[in-house]
Amino acid sequence: MQNLKTRKEPVIFNTNMPIIRVHDKNFEPYLSAASIQEKIDGIAEKLNADYAGKNPLFIAILNGSFMFASDLFKKISIEAEICFIKLASYKGTKSSGHVITAIGLDTDIIGRHVIIIEDIVDTGKTLSEFLPQLLHQQPASLKIVALLHKPAATVFPITIDYLGFSIPDKFVLGYGLDYNGLGRNIEEIYQLVD
Ligand code: IMP
Repeated sequence: MQNLKTRKEPVIFNTNMPIIRVHDKNFEPYLSAASIQEKIDGIAEKLNADYAGKNPLFIAILNGSFMFASDLFKKISIEAEICFIKLASYKGTKSSGHVITAIGLDTDIIGRHVIIIEDIVDTGKTLSEFLPQLLHQQPASLKIVALLHKPAATVFPITIDYLGFSIPDKFVLGYGLDYNGLGRNIEEIYQLVD
């Protein structure tokens, strides 16, 4: 195995190494795969209790939430549905501040109990733009589940009803989250080394 600390060229990473290099930046291990799964178990347990008999509709926001949504939905043991939309506001390690809807909602949510699945709430811009659009369609209820939240980065306050981890305002990668397209396939979550 090559030592990625000394690697100059971009792209390759290896989760067995303490520090990984993705494009031009170094990332250090932050949340283990086991701790993520444990947190998901706890969230799923609450959702199973809160939504029993309500046939909730989960709406997962792509791309970043695909892995979290998949692992979470596997642990939902009550009757439930899931669909996907694609929103994006990030470029590199900074939010562009502009939210684009790349794939819209194709499911009727009127009268449904809706649960948004988000990988991370950073500035809150994405959800602050998307939630009013959903509320306009008159769901019976609308709640948010997010794996990660950066409270110190908040610009648009969002109430997260089911939260995995509250984290510092540092760029993270892995478990669905990318840095310019790379790193989504890592099982753990890594944090940018300053
Ligand atoms: P917000 O609109 O600023 O809340 O950002 C939400 C979206 O930005 C998330 O769904 C992610 O796709 C992306 N994002 C925010 N912080 C990070 C990060 O630390 N790493 C990777 N993507 C991030």
